Amino acid sequence: MTAPSPHDAGPRPLTITLDGEPFAGTQGQTIAGMLLAARRRAWRTTSVAAAPRGVFCGIGVCFDCLVTVNGARDVRACLRRAADGDVVETQHDPLPGASA
Ligand code: FES
Repeated sequence: MTAPSPHDAGPRPLTITLDGEPFAGTQGQTIAGMLLAARRRAWRTTSVAAAPRGVFCGIGVCFDCLVTVNGARDVRACLRRAADGDVVETQHDPLPGASA
């Protein structure tokens, strides 16, 4: 008989918050993946028109998915693997002189 592999237990559950709202996921998911799995489609607004944005490219190229994670701004949610307890905040950065 062989010893059980640490992988036998399956993916470990984790929880993050987005603007205080909890989201459940599993180890290995990106922040964007967790939010999309919960049917959340947008978590940022554009600088000029305040239009909603979430994932566009999904591969780290477009920067549409930016969030603040544990106080660090401009994190691409499509690339950042979620860690249990991550505090994620939406971002809206109006251009200077533009109304919010
Ligand atoms: S969705 Fe394009 S960089 Fe994240």
